[in-house]
Amino acid sequence: MKFKEINPSPRTLMTPGPVEADPRVLRAMSAHILGQFDPEFTALMNETMEMERYLFQTKNHQTYVVDTTSRGGLETVLTGAICPGDKVLIPSFGRFGYLLAEILERCGAEITLLEREWGTVFEPEEIEEALKKDTYKAVACIHGETSTSMMQPLDELGKICERYGALLIVDSVATLGGAEVKVDEWKLSACVSGTQKCVSAPSGSALITYNQQIEDIVKARKRVEKGIRTDSDIAGRLARIPSNYLDLGQLEDYWSPRRLNHHTEATSMQYAVHEALRCIVEETLEVRFARHKLNDKALQAGLEAMGLTIFGDLKHKMPVVTAINIPEGTDGKAIRGMLLNDFGMEIATSFGPLDGKILRIGNMGYSSQKRNILLLLGALEAVMLQNGVKVSKGEAVPAAMAVYRAAEKEA
Ligand SMILES: Cc1ncc(COP(=O)(O)O)c(C=O)c1O
Repeated sequence: MKFKEINPSPRTLMTPGPVEADPRVLRAMSAHILGQFDPEFTALMNETMEMERYLFQTKNHQTYVVDTTSRGGLETVLTGAICPGDKVLIPSFGRFGYLLAEILERCGAEITLLEREWGTVFEPEEIEEALKKDTYKAVACIHGETSTSMMQPLDELGKICERYGALLIVDSVATLGGAEVKVDEWKLSACVSGTQKCVSAPSGSALITYNQQIEDIVKARKRVEKGIRTDSDIAGRLARIPSNYLDLGQLEDYWSPRRLNHHTEATSMQYAVHEALRCIVEETLEVRFARHKLNDKALQAGLEAMGLTIFGDLKHKMPVVTAINIPEGTDGKAIRGMLLNDFGMEIATSFGPLDGKILRIGNMGYSSQKRNILLLLGALEAVMLQNGVKVSKGEAVPAAMAVYRAAEKEA
């Protein structure tokens, strides 16, 4: 049998994830494998926790990495924090809100789904109204709803949840590293993210953080597995966490000085996360968020100059995803196909009611670069014209360049 060595074509990834990994991250991944209890490796794990706290803007001790994708991170935190029979309120405004419901149903939670039209977000009062009507253990909600490009404001929600005695568990998979996620200031009880979007490493790790309240629940549900259990491992009083692999109790012990032998660590992914976080710390959150905002502004200016319209409530658009309405009679698949085949650039479609209606452009992490924005605008204009869409010729790139020139002058 003969198989070719992997040699992928170069691509510019402008989807809402995965995006391009920083080359520094890819280099770190090729480092020698260390044993997972080697002090050199556990020192890296501790550094990762420290840098992750900076990224999540939190002092939470329980801030670490789970070897799973973001969805697995959500499942880990929800399965650990929510016991069967707990009531959870889910304000849902897109596909990923339904994902929270799906996971929580499987946890045995009693869920109440608040739904909003895709392309909008909730007013905090709407969520408060629902909290008045029943007693909830938690509110679970998406910060950046990648499927619609909308970003739910969270600054008031944490305080509201606190008033009603509910935890606030947030999916910041699409926003962390590209937009503000202030875990402590916003009073988020737990926050879950991934690596393949604004953090700019490959997919495969989930970044999680949670507060003392959730730590206490986990403690009360903890059972260390037989074979590694010691006399001091007393079974908790609450229902055991139903997953072994995604067991927050045992994961906490693995990430603590105890270094409980749970799973075998995905060493190269830990190198990737460590280096991605180092890139973020070096750039600083402030500069990184400003970079995403500027590229977003230039992209929007270019798209509008072309004559395309942007989907959704612009006041609440994520700075890291932009969705454009597909012009009437245009085949979105053909646009995406030509961008990929002729220009090596990838953008995305959406799901459910928005499938075939919008195209989503990511502006995330390492992919969020001036050159990518300008190249994409030029390529998109050419592809639109080739597909018979009447867009303004030669307007998009200069409009975006004007945004960059103005920012340079201000600096
Ligand atoms: C908001 C949001 N949540 C969760 C997920 C699931 O992440 P993953 O594919 O890494 O499991 C995604 C993926 O696109 C997402 O955008």
